[in-house]
Amino acid sequence: MPEATPVHTRALGTSAAEIAEGGRLLAAGCLVAFPTETVYGLGADATNPAAIASLYAAKGRPSFNPLIAHVAHVEDAFALGDFPPSARKLAEAFWPGALTLVVPVSENSPVCELARAGLASIAIRVPDHPVATALIKAAGSPIAAPSANRSGHVSPSTAAHVHADLDGIIEAVLDGGPTRIGVESTILGCLDDTVVMLRPGGIAREAIETILGTPLAEGKGDEAAPLAPGRLTSHYAPRQVLRLDAQGIQPGEACLAFGLPLPAGATPALTLNLSERGDVAEAAANLYQHLRALDAMDAQGIAVADFPRRGLGEAIHDRLMRAAAPR
Ligand code: TXA
Ligand code: MG
Repeated sequence: MPEATPVHTRALGTSAAEIAEGGRLLAAGCLVAFPTETVYGLGADATNPAAIASLYAAKGRPSFNPLIAHVAHVEDAFALGDFPPSARKLAEAFWPGALTLVVPVSENSPVCELARAGLASIAIRVPDHPVATALIKAAGSPIAAPSANRSGHVSPSTAAHVHADLDGIIEAVLDGGPTRIGVESTILGCLDDTVVMLRPGGIAREAIETILGTPLAEGKGDEAAPLAPGRLTSHYAPRQVLRLDAQGIQPGEACLAFGLPLPAGATPALTLNLSERGDVAEAAANLYQHLRALDAMDAQGIAVADFPRRGLGEAIHDRLMRAAAPR
């Protein structure tokens, strides 16, 4: 969809009729944003190269960055890729859920090459959200869905975030309220029976290692040849400069706090707390919303208080490092 011809972006709810309409739009090759349990996704028919081309254009995303194919049921996932035994075990343990598995693409996979960026592997996820499931079923094909933000922006955890980034560019947004988890799915590489962490996310490392019975291997990707090609260091970028592990807050600086008491020098008017009670899952759910709100304040930079890296804290740390990276 050329950006030169603005479209009217429809704000849809999640009634059966509105989900059916979303499914019709997707089947016709249009772009429809929808809620998942992690963040809002920008959906396109993964089997339709023209729809995928317009998806890359709408996001301003390089087309060498492959997309996750979303399906409604675990059995549908097994048709898209060849799952090594450990991947099958993880699929059965965590799907539907906030886990993406990268496996060798199956010979008869209907997902088009452009959606896979020409790779011999494919990223697959079965989301755990009734609206996402119903929409994918209504569309009748796997749905490619990156986070529904312009490339490089903070990921959307509400429909309003999607409208702010993509109004006039996509056909519709289904509003299912704020997303439950708030950070993107954990991505694991399962090209053979070794499981590699490609992106920390909504399913904690500890839970995955419990199922596998072994520690996860670390991805050795770098900027030139990233294992998850979209994981460029500067990402999730707010306008303001971010300062991590802040022990004290400077005058005029905004503060992203975790737990109580607040860091020394924090001003209540310029402070948002990820979780007053110090809960990392609650912090993940608030992360992008709070980053956007602090970024909109008239402050001199954003200082981020220290927080634990366990559980979803690993994904929060990963996203904040990227948000703080020089660009
Ligand atoms: O929670 C999520 O995962 C959300 C919701 C909408 O499902 N989606 C999401 O998609 O975060 P996206 O496109 O923003 O991030 C997908 C990441 C990218 O970094 C991409 O490079 C990587 O997955 N990826 C996709 N296919 C891959 C492959 N075959 N091998 C390695 N990485 C892959
Ligand atoms: Mg993204």
